[in-house]
Amino acid sequence: MDRHELIGWLRETDETRLEALWARADKARRLNVGDEVHLRGLIEVSNHCVRRCAYCGINVTNHEVERYRMTAEEIVGCARQALDLGYGTVVIQAGEDYGLTRDLIAAVVRRIKAETGLAVTLSLGERPDDDLVAWREAGADRYLLRFETSDPELYASIHPSLPGRPSDRFEILRHLRDLGYEIGSGVMLGIPGQTWQTLASDLLAFQGLDLDMIGVGPYLPHPATPLGRGELPEAPPGEQVPNTELMTYKVVALTRLLCPQSNIPSTTALATLNLALGRELGLSRGANVVMPNLTPAPYRALYEIYPGKACIRETANECAHCLSGRIVRMGRQVGRGAGGRDRGEGRG
Ligand code: 5AD
Ligand code: FES
Repeated sequence: MDRHELIGWLRETDETRLEALWARADKARRLNVGDEVHLRGLIEVSNHCVRRCAYCGINVTNHEVERYRMTAEEIVGCARQALDLGYGTVVIQAGEDYGLTRDLIAAVVRRIKAETGLAVTLSLGERPDDDLVAWREAGADRYLLRFETSDPELYASIHPSLPGRPSDRFEILRHLRDLGYEIGSGVMLGIPGQTWQTLASDLLAFQGLDLDMIGVGPYLPHPATPLGRGELPEAPPGEQVPNTELMTYKVVALTRLLCPQSNIPSTTALATLNLALGRELGLSRGANVVMPNLTPAPYRALYEIYPGKACIRETANECAHCLSGRIVRMGRQVGRGAGGRDRGEGRG
């Protein structure tokens, strides 16, 4: 699919044609990755962050946030719970928090691998090379780093670099792949300044990077951030991508058609826009992964990257039952095994 066709689909409003897009994406999903829906248990291990991302509620400039960092014992405890709940993977996610030291994360990864055998995905930001190498050696299987937008100017405006450390997420992703990680990336939809052209480039970049996992979700404004306060400009009228549920389904479907073998989550941000049906509609329009939250109750509400996040009040057990019920009612199956790129037989 070329840029012109992509933009046509992104701007499509005709319901009959969109139904045809959903059907094509669902068929590509079934043929390429099957009916299994993989569960990746998400552990939000720290909401400390050194970054000033203009969209993110836990960025360092937000002094209203009560900060927490889980202990190694707590993180490993969540991984044991993931095993009990039948998940194949744990995702260890945090802000860019150097209080999570190289040694601490390496030790946690080793313990989780030894005690549970689960696949371990890390999502800890733009860490130095030595950290990424040490964690891969400790047994981490995958790394998630969304590039957020492929437009360098827009990226620089929403994601200020640290002094003396230019940020090139494409380069980091390629490096992670060279280190032997499966790599995941993605973008937010509808950030102010994102145009149809930019989003088409994002989709083509997914293809070019040969990603194992691709997560896309609507941008949800957080009032305590520069973007949420409206301090950055929108694209000119007619060019701005909306941050809607419909836009998310279109991008999930197009991502499946462009990258048929990838693992694509039906994201929490999408579920936040439609609590009743967002997850299911994502799964029936190209997605094959969901990420139930495992973060312990006292911390869950504090990881507020955007307001109104789904599953803030639910427990890990409640999310597990909720999601497996939703999957089975759709006539799909809960995935077994790690659910890697090579469909379950892979590492971990
Ligand atoms: N709205 C939607 N998604 C967000 N993320 C961060 N802040 C927001 C927001 N306000 C997404 C980013 C990040 C991922 C962990 O969460 O894409 O990479
Ligand atoms: Fe958390 Fe449904 S997934 S309540």
